[in-house]
Amino acid sequence: MQSGSKILRGKVALITGAAKRLGKASALALAEAGASVAITYLTSKREAEATVEEIKALGAEGFALRCDVTDESSVRRAVKGVVQRFGGLDILINNAGNYESVEFEQLTLKQWDAIFASNVRGPFLVSQECLKYLRSRKGKIIHMGSLGGLRAWATHAHYCSSKAALHMLTRCMAKALAPEIAVNCVAPGMIDLGDPNAASFMRRMAKQTPMQRNGTGEETAAAVLFFATAPHFITGQILCVDGGLGL
Ligand SMILES: NC(=O)c1ccc[n+]([C@@H]2O[C@H](COP(=O)([O-])OP(=O)(O)OC[C@H]3O[C@@H](n4cnc5c(N)ncnc54)[C@H](OP(=O)(O)O)[C@@H]3O)[C@@H](O)[C@H]2O)c1
Repeated sequence: MQSGSKILRGKVALITGAAKRLGKASALALAEAGASVAITYLTSKREAEATVEEIKALGAEGFALRCDVTDESSVRRAVKGVVQRFGGLDILINNAGNYESVEFEQLTLKQWDAIFASNVRGPFLVSQECLKYLRSRKGKIIHMGSLGGLRAWATHAHYCSSKAALHMLTRCMAKALAPEIAVNCVAPGMIDLGDPNAASFMRRMAKQTPMQRNGTGEETAAAVLFFATAPHFITGQILCVDGGLGL
């Protein structure tokens, strides 16, 4: 393994849904490590452009393109765009996803299908489209799972089930795509991104967390960077970033 802060120099990363929040934090961490970073957005074009400027300010190459991860032709166009621009692909981070709180009895089929479309079908579609490029460069795939994929949250049955499916997809893909591609998953717990509406919930959760606080975007990005730079022998793993909340 290369040492030094630019450990990903010469590598190309694609991160879905990375205009803001956790995806942006991962994009900046990979850029800081020297990777060329392509990010996708669905509706947050302006934020995506601002994130690209921040990537460039770190001395890395970056660009943004629109992609609906649930749509096969949109995914095909986006992956083609990345490979045309950067000449290949080394690291795919399936970050785009949705989260929603609904009482089980009120949960509709539409809500169920929409969560599974973005959180499971999306990572599956994007990964499949990237396979030939990742294989040729012995690349890595990193999914963004969730503590909710390991613990049952009563008002998030569809979200928890979708992330549990993504965790299993991580393990199946790790076995199916070895030895060329390593596939791992980061499972964040409570991450405080400064949303004022979530402040009292965040305070409550911090008290229940062994580390006595919630996580940060930089901490989930550190886990993404770990898998992006880890020995290829590490595959099929789900890494919780939760301050011990899931214990
Ligand atoms: N934040 C947390 O505390 C937490 C905890 C556990 C797990 N996670 C997981 O970590 C990942 C990132 O978390 P986050 O909170 O930063 O996520 P987020 O803000 O809820 O979503 C990230 C991005 O996903 C994009 N997206 C949604 N549906 C899409 C679709 N059909 N096609 C393409 N892009 C789509 C959105 O892009 P646009 O804005 O461009 O529309 C959004 O900005 C997610 O997978 C999430 O489930 C987060």
